Amino acid sequence: MYWMGVDVGTGGTRALLVDEKGGIKGGVTAPHEEMRMERPLWAEQRPEDWWQAAQKAIRGVLTDSKVSGKKVKGVGLSGQMHGLVLLDEAGKVVRPALIWCDQRSQPQVDRINQLIGKDNILSYTANPVLTGFTLPKLLWVRDNDPQSYNRARMVLLPKDYVRFELTGAYASDVSDASGTALFDVVLRRWSHQMLDRLKLDRALLPRVHESSEVTGQVTSRAAELTGLAEGTPVAAGGGDQASSAVGNGIVEPGAVSCTLGTSGVVFAHMDRPNYDPAGRVHTFCHAVKDAWHVMGVTQGAGLSLQWFRNQLAPGTSYDALTAEAAAAQPGARGLFWLPYLMGERTPHLDSAARGGWIGLTAKHTRADLIRSLLEGVCYSQKDCLDIIDQMGAPANSVRLSGGGAKSAFWRQLFADVFGKRVVTLASQEGSAYGAALLAMVATGVYASVPEVCRAVIREVDSVTPRPHESQLYRRGHEVYRSLYPSLKPLYGLL
Ligand code: XUL
Repeated sequence: MYWMGVDVGTGGTRALLVDEKGGIKGGVTAPHEEMRMERPLWAEQRPEDWWQAAQKAIRGVLTDSKVSGKKVKGVGLSGQMHGLVLLDEAGKVVRPALIWCDQRSQPQVDRINQLIGKDNILSYTANPVLTGFTLPKLLWVRDNDPQSYNRARMVLLPKDYVRFELTGAYASDVSDASGTALFDVVLRRWSHQMLDRLKLDRALLPRVHESSEVTGQVTSRAAELTGLAEGTPVAAGGGDQASSAVGNGIVEPGAVSCTLGTSGVVFAHMDRPNYDPAGRVHTFCHAVKDAWHVMGVTQGAGLSLQWFRNQLAPGTSYDALTAEAAAAQPGARGLFWLPYLMGERTPHLDSAARGGWIGLTAKHTRADLIRSLLEGVCYSQKDCLDIIDQMGAPANSVRLSGGGAKSAFWRQLFADVFGKRVVTLASQEGSAYGAALLAMVATGVYASVPEVCRAVIREVDSVTPRPHESQLYRRGHEVYRSLYPSLKPLYGLL
C-alpha cells in the first residue's frame, strides 16, 4: 500500500509515492511553464498548467514505479502559497493566477491598511497584509480587471485548484489559508472582521479543514486522467512550507528548518500563535492540530541562481555553477549580492527593494559573482533565523531541505553563515513527502502528525560550522545588513 504526496510548486508539480514505513517508492516532477512576468515584479501562472502537470506527474510516478492506482490509499496536497485562483460559476479558471512573488498590489495594501488599520489587521489575522498575500491580489483584480472579478464565484489557492480538479471539492487547509490575509490564524477560521470591513462575500471562499483531514475523493473523471482509483481519499494537506516542515519533522517545539526552493524559508514550530510586532516573519497555522509556526521568507533564494543561470550562463548546470563558486574565496573578495529580485519579505517587507551586486571591481571573476550570490542568499536566510531566535524559538541545529540541500557546498555554506549545525534527513523530499505523511494521518495509518514524523523521519548527515569561515561570515553579515538601509532611499527612484 502507498500514499501519494503532490506538491504544486513554482517550477513544477511533483508526485511522490511513499510506503507506510515512510520509504520512498518513486517521485516524478512535471515542469510548469515559466512564470509570465509581463512587467517587473508581476508574476502569473496558468492554473490549468498546474493541473496538466499534476496529471503528468501522478501518472508518471505510478507508471515508473509500476504501482497500480488501486494501491494508493490516500493523496495529500501541498503547494506554493498565496496565489490567487479565480473560478467562475462552472468551475472554469477566469484569468491567470497572480502567484506568491507577484508584487503589484502595493496600492491595495495601502488602502486596506488605511481602511482597517495596521493594528487591527494584526489582531484579526496575526500578520500584516503584504503585497504577496492573496487578499491584495484579489482587490487588484477588483480594481483593474473588473470583468474577471465579476465573473468569479470562488477564490482558491494553487493546490486547492488541483484538489478541485481531483475531487470536485472547494476546500483548503488552515496553513495555506493563513497566507491569504483573510484568515483568523488564532481561531483557525476565516476572519469575519476582515471580510466584513472589506465587504467581501464569505461564499467566495472555500471550506477550511485541518491539514490531516479528508476533504473529498478522486472523481471518476480525475481517475481516468491520472491513473488514481476513483474514490481515493484526498487529504487537506498544507501550504508548501507547512508541508515541508512536516516532511522535515518540524512538528514539535525546538525544531527549525530551512527550505531552499525558488524562495528560501526558515521555519519554526510554535505551541501558541506568537507574533513579531513588526510583522517581519509570518505567524501561520501549522499543518499540526493546535499548533502554529513562524517563518521568515527570502523571496529570491533559488530564484537568484536561476536568474543568474538563465541570463548569464545559459545551459550551465546548477552543479557546475556551485562548483565554480566553491573555487572562489569565502567572502568573494568583498563582493555582496542582495537577493531582492522580487522585492523582499523578511526582514524588510519592501516590495520596492531591488537586487544587485555591491562592491564589484575589475578583479572580480564570474566565480566571485556566483559565490557572492550564494552567500547573499545565506545572509538573507540568517536575517530570518535571527528574528525567529529573538522570538523565543532558538535553534540548536537547522534541518535543510529543498533543491539547495542536495549540494554539499550549500550545506557547508549554510552551516558557516548560520554558525549552526546543518542536518540533512534520509528524505530530502520536503513538501511532497510531508503531504504524503499528512495523507497517512488522514487515512488513519497514524494517529497524529507528530506520531508519523517520529516513526519515519531520520537524520542521516550533518555539517558543523568551520570557525574561521563562521567568523568571516559574521562580519560579512554585518556589512550585508548595512546595505539595504543605505540603498532604500534609491529604490523609490528606480
Ligand atoms: C511562503 C511562500 C513561498 C511560496 C513558494 O510564504 O511564499 O514559500 O509558497 O514556494
